[in-house]
Amino acid sequence: FSLIGDVGVYFSNAFAVTPLCCPSRSSILTGKYPHNHEVRNNSLSGNCSSPAWQRGPEASAFPVYLNKQLYQTFYAGKYLNQYGTKGSGGVSRVPPGWDQWHALVGNSQYYNYTLSVNGKEEKHGDSYDKDYLTDLIVNRSIQFLDERSPQRPFFIMLAPPAPHSPYVAAPQYQNSFSNVKAPRDGSFNKPGGKDKHWLLRQPVNPMANSSIEFLDNAFRKRWQALLSVDDLVERLVKKLEDVKELNNTYIFFTSDHGYHTGQFSLPIDKRQLYEFDIRVPLMVRGPGIKPNQTLQAPVLNIDLGPTFLDIAGVNMSQVNMDGQSFLPQMVSAPSLRNGTSRPYFLVEYTGEGCTNSNPDCPKMGPGVSQCFPNCVCEDAFNNTYACVRTLTGYNLQYCEFADTESFVEVYNLTADPHQLENIVKKVDPVLLQTMNQRLIRLQSCVGRSCRDTKNEKLRSEF
Ligand SMILES: *[C@@H]1O[C@H](CO)[C@@H](O)[C@H](O)[C@H]1NC(C)=O
Ligand SMILES: *[C@@H]1O[C@H](CO)[C@@H](O)[C@H](O)[C@H]1NC(C)=O
Ligand SMILES: *[C@@H]1O[C@H](CO)[C@@H](O)[C@H](O)[C@H]1NC(C)=O
Ligand SMILES: *[C@@H]1O[C@H](CO)[C@@H](O)[C@H](O)[C@H]1NC(C)=O
Ligand SMILES: *[C@@H]1O[C@H](CO)[C@@H](O)[C@H](O)[C@H]1NC(C)=O
Ligand SMILES: *[C@@H]1O[C@H](CO)[C@@H](O)[C@H](O)[C@H]1NC(C)=O
Ligand SMILES: *[C@@H]1O[C@H](CO)[C@@H](O)[C@H](O)[C@H]1NC(C)=O
Repeated sequence: FSLIGDVGVYFSNAFAVTPLCCPSRSSILTGKYPHNHEVRNNSLSGNCSSPAWQRGPEASAFPVYLNKQLYQTFYAGKYLNQYGTKGSGGVSRVPPGWDQWHALVGNSQYYNYTLSVNGKEEKHGDSYDKDYLTDLIVNRSIQFLDERSPQRPFFIMLAPPAPHSPYVAAPQYQNSFSNVKAPRDGSFNKPGGKDKHWLLRQPVNPMANSSIEFLDNAFRKRWQALLSVDDLVERLVKKLEDVKELNNTYIFFTSDHGYHTGQFSLPIDKRQLYEFDIRVPLMVRGPGIKPNQTLQAPVLNIDLGPTFLDIAGVNMSQVNMDGQSFLPQMVSAPSLRNGTSRPYFLVEYTGEGCTNSNPDCPKMGPGVSQCFPNCVCEDAFNNTYACVRTLTGYNLQYCEFADTESFVEVYNLTADPHQLENIVKKVDPVLLQTMNQRLIRLQSCVGRSCRDTKNEKLRSEF
């Protein structure tokens, strides 16, 4: 906060359009909703770093445009969960648009991982000084800043897996926050209740003590792992200052999705439609951005690409993205910001499951996944949903499930910020109809039609 948010803007309503790593990262890279990049889950078969993704969406992701603007581009860290695997073209394949490439093979690790360094395999062990991935990522970026050509602009993307599991803290932080526990507020250890979709009716409530211990431990370790991310930010800012680029560089800090620890008695994960999983942190500093601002206009992960390209001076009429640049909101006077924010947007998710029953949790049957601890399953094939979220006028969420119940959940987030009560049976059917129409429209939107969301007056109250 002190190095980015306090000297720039903090977005209090930043969202991921889908709460899972690979689809969300694909949205960040392409500026598109999942229905347009077609990356559905973290598997190759769901298009995570698949050949179809490489031929299609990845070929027009934002780094390609930056490179055409003669930006020097640098990537270090976790890319897409299947990156570097055999089916994804192996480590020798470097995605287009990146001049310097230091990407993790596969999913999150802190030690004992393999990198693709500009297409060459580089194996790492578990020596803190040589291998700790969060530190290595910032070290490589510092080296890049020394070696780049000072005549051309640069773009650096650092993607530490932290605080993703296995959340291994640096040795100096392994005893930090020893008394910290997950927050007990909101929907913590509350039942999902009968008015939520079936997956949320499964968790045991109250949670087993061992589940609570498990999630508190995860929460603490995630904070510990984040201390190295704080160090990363500090070292990068310091380096930019040393090379006299700090006042000429935009710095963005964000994440690919939220996370829950005990909400609605779900021990740990993401993947749910609720605020705790779809909200992300977002702070930006840079030239022309006044310090100490909080902006409430909703911004999405699909807006990051358009914003980067806007900063780089790319002609946006030639770019086919669903999101929109939020640069004008950051650099203009507050009085000029009216009308620049979208009245509503889409969140869409395709559930992950396992075809076979989990032998450890036979009672749950096939179709579910992420069943730990104590056989509480966090995802299922039919945890597949799409939501319209409105913030302007009404603070409302409307979601439809693609399950056998065609389940609908509706929340009034002003009256019920923790989404304890599904009000679908209480609201005027006209309102439901309007939201359903918005949803259908957004689910097939492309480019401009995703941004042209008129704020028709909702005719009913709820
Ligand atoms: C993967 O993407 C391709 C096009 O890029 C699409 O034809 C295919 O249906 C997608 N697969 C899934 C599972 O969505
Ligand atoms: C890394 O791998 C080595 C050799 O397999 C193993 O002994 C060590 O425990 C691993 N370290 C971590 C942090 O997983
Ligand atoms: C990163 O650089 C610092 C400072 O030069 C060094 O002490 C540390 O060992 C390096 N860590 C890794 C993982 O490269
Ligand atoms: C669970 O923890 C609570 C509070 O710490 C305690 O009162 C209760 O006896 C514990 N239950 C079991 C089964 O250990
Ligand atoms: C950044 O600071 C340097 C002096 O350190 C100054 O010459 C330059 O004009 C500044 N650039 C911007 C964009 O403010
Ligand atoms: C931001 O605001 C806080 C408190 O409102 C103040 O202490 C701080 O100096 C301000 N920072 C900047 C960079 O203006
Ligand atoms: C990912 O999506 C593909 C295509 O829809 C599907 O076949 C596969 O089972 C999904 N993977 C998981 C883990 O759900």
